[in-house]
Amino acid sequence: MSDRSAQSSVRDILVTSALPYANGPLHLGHMLEQVQTDIWVRFQQSRGHNCRYVCAEDAHGTAIMLTAEELGITPQEQIDRMHAAHLADSRDFHINFANFHSTHSEENRELSESIYLALQANGHIAEREITQAFDPEKQLFLSDRYIKGTCPRCKTPDQYGDNCEACGATYSPSDLIDATSVLSGATPVDKASLHYFFTLPAFEEMLKEWTGSGTLQPQIANKLKEWLDTGLQEWDISRDAPYFGFEIPNAPGKYFYVWLDAPIGYMASHKNLCDREGLDFDAVWARGSSTELYHFIGKDIINFHGLFWPAMLDSAGYRTPTSIFVHGFLTVNGTKMSKSRGTFVNARTYLEHLDAEYIRYYFAAKLGSGVDDIDLNLEDFVQRVNSDVVGKVVNIASRCAGFLRKGFDSRLEATCSEPALVQDFIDAGGAIAELYEQREFSKAIREIIALADRANQYIDEKKPWVLAKEEGREAEVHAACSVGINLFRVLMTYLKPVLPAMAEKAETFLNCSLDWTALDSALVGHELAKFKPLLTRIDPKNVEAMVAATAAEAPTEKAAETAAPAPEKDTDSTIDFDTFAKVELRVAEIVAAEHVEGADKLLRLTLDLGGDQRNVFAGIKQAYPDPAALVGRLTVCVANLAPRKMRFGVSEGMVLAAGPGGGDIFLLQPDDGARPGMVVK
Ligand code: 2FM
Ligand code: ZN
Repeated sequence: MSDRSAQSSVRDILVTSALPYANGPLHLGHMLEQVQTDIWVRFQQSRGHNCRYVCAEDAHGTAIMLTAEELGITPQEQIDRMHAAHLADSRDFHINFANFHSTHSEENRELSESIYLALQANGHIAEREITQAFDPEKQLFLSDRYIKGTCPRCKTPDQYGDNCEACGATYSPSDLIDATSVLSGATPVDKASLHYFFTLPAFEEMLKEWTGSGTLQPQIANKLKEWLDTGLQEWDISRDAPYFGFEIPNAPGKYFYVWLDAPIGYMASHKNLCDREGLDFDAVWARGSSTELYHFIGKDIINFHGLFWPAMLDSAGYRTPTSIFVHGFLTVNGTKMSKSRGTFVNARTYLEHLDAEYIRYYFAAKLGSGVDDIDLNLEDFVQRVNSDVVGKVVNIASRCAGFLRKGFDSRLEATCSEPALVQDFIDAGGAIAELYEQREFSKAIREIIALADRANQYIDEKKPWVLAKEEGREAEVHAACSVGINLFRVLMTYLKPVLPAMAEKAETFLNCSLDWTALDSALVGHELAKFKPLLTRIDPKNVEAMVAATAAEAPTEKAAETAAPAPEKDTDSTIDFDTFAKVELRVAEIVAAEHVEGADKLLRLTLDLGGDQRNVFAGIKQAYPDPAALVGRLTVCVANLAPRKMRFGVSEGMVLAAGPGGGDIFLLQPDDGARPGMVVK
């Protein structure tokens, strides 16, 4: 795969990004993925390849049905509204979809039915009764997220049906103490019903081959291998009515689980495009197809794309994806996005305050081919965009354009005075292309900005602003500025996949298209158009306003968290070193401690981390029945834990204590060396 960018023949490539759920707005986490995908697609197109990016609304499931019910509208109205809003957000971030369709479409119904019937005909659908929690008032089967109760292990109340946020225990909803339905408050009852399963274990060999074929990122291949080695399980693909989705053929009252027809939505969107534009759908999806197929996804949905989806395609006689490209989550200022801190920013809120290209550039400057989380540090964001894009790249053009207009009718010199320098810039394109190809965008940006530094250095050395004041040095001014503009043209060609709107303005100014495949020599004797500002500096006040607007939109932290797609739980309890390194441990002084009414184990602590005060709930009441004894003591605190809404209030950190538990838990004794706020190493 590494030599793909060097291939001269035109490649056919179909690309997708994860389909956004139709029950909430897009946020910057979605935009990270769409921008990553869009840059890669635009890069492929700029290299002359036949690359199309399709996406769609993920329209099915209980959550969408319930959202519509709450809003007093039909699910169709809900998905239509969201389709329009999502499409507008993506468009305004310059996401260049060839098609944005919906999973609730005729194409998807037909494909889902035919794929299911093929799986069934091949003996890959099993049927059996299972017993699940059922809400007798709402007459609905309840998934784990719709059941709450007291943790059977640590007895913390208000925990979801699958795991405890306080002690990390995992269990089934029937183990919860005093379980209630989140939807009605009723006590769930157990109820049996017939379910349909996809026999995933039958695909073990096929999946081992697919995951070992060398096209996947190493971390992803390893993760999948781990799952394959542990043994696969049959996958429940049916849900009982009422459910918003497609009814399963020959199974009245049974619906396809949203995750069955969601990836088929990639095909459906492509089918819709092919029908509209007269393209050959079958050639892309047939086994052995020469079209490359890539899915850009987040690391929370690897199992769907790396196991279920290729197996389904294989059973139904289709080709499998060439690869899946997995990225990490977006954090803001080093922590999980949070509405109350104003960092869970909706795409639209961002656009109301800032230009899409700022963040496109910043994401590009941070993205690599791995699955590490990407941090949007808001100060660094302002500094980086202003310094690199405005201060270095735009600056080249704005420094040269004025002299060329005033002295030379905006016409470049007739022969290039620095052909070797311009050629150096053009020659750098091969390595930059390879980095784009490998999704090593941050490295590509580093190379491009290093070239911009060279261009600025060249202009600084020539000093056209000094020469312009001296008699008889016109030719030198003309040469320096013409070379500067030529270097700018090459740089903007390389940046075009990242900054398409700025590139369009640059094309108008340069009076030529920025075409990577046509970069072979300097522009000479060429007339430029009037220079207009290409991108202005970010005013930090706009970032502050965006954060404030986001915080003002926040209903409660919990609601904001549930608005985001809940990541799949990873059952592997080990953490790698990078994850550990993110944990910020600080010494904190307990400046106040009190009982929490109604809590058996919790104390409310006010911690001082060297001027920064936090409210933290700690389950150490048994060890310290008299909270006053804690005041003045020092403890170690996880300082960068995202605030968590607990039943008694928001906890803004976590206290570390050691000991066997119960009455024997030890905090630090006051110590001369430790000071509040000190980082623990
Ligand atoms: O996780 C999500 O947001 C899902 N809506 C993604 C679906 S991707 C594909 F498989 F359809
Ligand atoms: Zn617990």
